[in-house]
Amino acid sequence: MRIAIPLSCLLLAVSAQAAGDPKLGKALHDKQCVACHVKLLGGDGSAMYTRKPHLINSATALKQRVAACSAQTSAGWFPEEEEHVAAWLNQTYYKFK
Ligand code: HEC
Repeated sequence: MRIAIPLSCLLLAVSAQAAGDPKLGKALHDKQCVACHVKLLGGDGSAMYTRKPHLINSATALKQRVAACSAQTSAGWFPEEEEHVAAWLNQTYYKFK
């Protein structure tokens, strides 16, 4: 049931701004996402999130990007897991309201 209706997921994601748990998000991100960014940019890969200008300019855009990336990497994440990762990225790097 968790992935039943994409539209409702989207609405949920937009309305439940602070629903994700950053701690869970960091673990997921370290496992699925960081290696490729490190390969591209070196260091710890965080330059991907601090480069200027970055592509992401709102909390909604950040969530969409996380969802698109997780689909691309076939991480098979549930919307909640994407929320966690978006929450962690936002808390750590983006600081959108
Ligand atoms: C196969 C390599 C690869 C993997 C795996 C990957 N990314 Fe990315 N990511 C990229 C590339 C390349 C870009 C830059 C895209 C561009 O410049 O258009 C990017 C950009 C981003 C950005 C936008 C950065 C900015 O502010 O401009 C975010 C957010 C992001 N990735 C999140 C994730 C998350 C979350 C995951 C894990 C689900 C992930 N990425 C996995 C290659 C990857």
